[in-house]
Amino acid sequence: MGSTVIKEALAIHGGSPVRKTLLPYGRQSISEEDIRAVVDTLRSDWLTTGPKVGEFEEAVAAWAGAKHAVSFSSGTAALHAAAFAAGLAPGDEAITTPLTFAATANCVLYQGATPVFADVCEDTLNIDPNEIAKKVTSRTKAVLPVDYAGHPADLDGVVEVAERHGLTVIEDACHALGAEYKGRKVGSLARMTVFSFHPVKHLTTGEGGLVTTERADLADTLRKFRNHGIDTEARQRQANGQWHYDMVLLGFNYRLTDIACALGLEQLKRLEANLARRREIAARYMAAFDGVPGVRVPAVRKEANPAWHLFTIRVSGRGMDRGEVFRALRAENIGVNVHYVPVHRHRYYRDRFGYGGGEFPVAERAYDQLISLPMFHGMTDSDVDDVIRAVTKVAGHWA
Ligand SMILES: Cc1ncc(COP(=O)(O)O)c(C=O)c1O
Repeated sequence: MGSTVIKEALAIHGGSPVRKTLLPYGRQSISEEDIRAVVDTLRSDWLTTGPKVGEFEEAVAAWAGAKHAVSFSSGTAALHAAAFAAGLAPGDEAITTPLTFAATANCVLYQGATPVFADVCEDTLNIDPNEIAKKVTSRTKAVLPVDYAGHPADLDGVVEVAERHGLTVIEDACHALGAEYKGRKVGSLARMTVFSFHPVKHLTTGEGGLVTTERADLADTLRKFRNHGIDTEARQRQANGQWHYDMVLLGFNYRLTDIACALGLEQLKRLEANLARRREIAARYMAAFDGVPGVRVPAVRKEANPAWHLFTIRVSGRGMDRGEVFRALRAENIGVNVHYVPVHRHRYYRDRFGYGGGEFPVAERAYDQLISLPMFHGMTDSDVDDVIRAVTKVAGHWA
């Protein structure tokens, strides 16, 4: 049974706020071991593309149950590389969800191809395989499902449509390191899986990203792409006493540093504990908000074990307005956020592709109701209590 609503003056109306200081919606946790590992690397011979990069990639691949892992300077760079490795080029189309961070669709544009959006499922807010099927044309080359908030997309459904039409699946798992689908971790379920190590994620390298794949040829292309398209790495050449290298494709400098990977290796040791803590917080929120009028908690499908990058509620009914609820929670010093402004509603996409709004009703209705509550593994029990108290108090105003 959920919490009963609380009837008291909201901070936005002059009442006292639930907290004295703002609780952010997400933040990193850095330990003394993390700091020592970074300092040790600063004292070592390699600041970039040294031994830590390979160690980190192998450790993440082993952890996620994937054959190959290639690191990048950000999740966005990793998405760009995956779009390149999938062969996306001008004239091609790639289908993705509108309810994501712009980077998911932008990586298609970087390759000169066209992103095409398909609406999401009402329960998980992940891309709907039936909607993907409706958007496939002779130009479609790839599909990019996003594991929204850390809940894996309907991967069987997506892969089935992709196989039927010969499309490459690039799973944007930037929210979903450690999420499970039918008992398997995401990371080996799509042709390529993309992760982000931004500070609000389950594991951070400051900025950073990574692609996992089962295919050696794709891993090789991804490695070249992040290093200007050059066929060998500087460390390899140094070890072989060799100076010559060949640039074989047009790549970028998207390398992740040894400094960042040293941090990532330490963070990886705590990843299981971080996931467990996020799942504990999600379970407390679920129980507390069950039955609170006007508040809808996220759905979890039976085949999914989410990684809970975000915990999003949907507020509606009883005259509740998301904007007002958002401002009321901020006044209580709860650092709520909204994920996401649907990509096609950004000015750039409207101007370039002529979207007028209303094209993706499920995603757009969800956007009008969504609020992301604080969710990070460093939250204390009392932080969680504050969020629960603030949500029940604010919802109580409309009850
Ligand atoms: C769904 C999604 N894809 C891609 C990215 C880009 O990752 P990064 O910030 O590491 O570039 C993000 C960023 O948070 C994201 O949420």
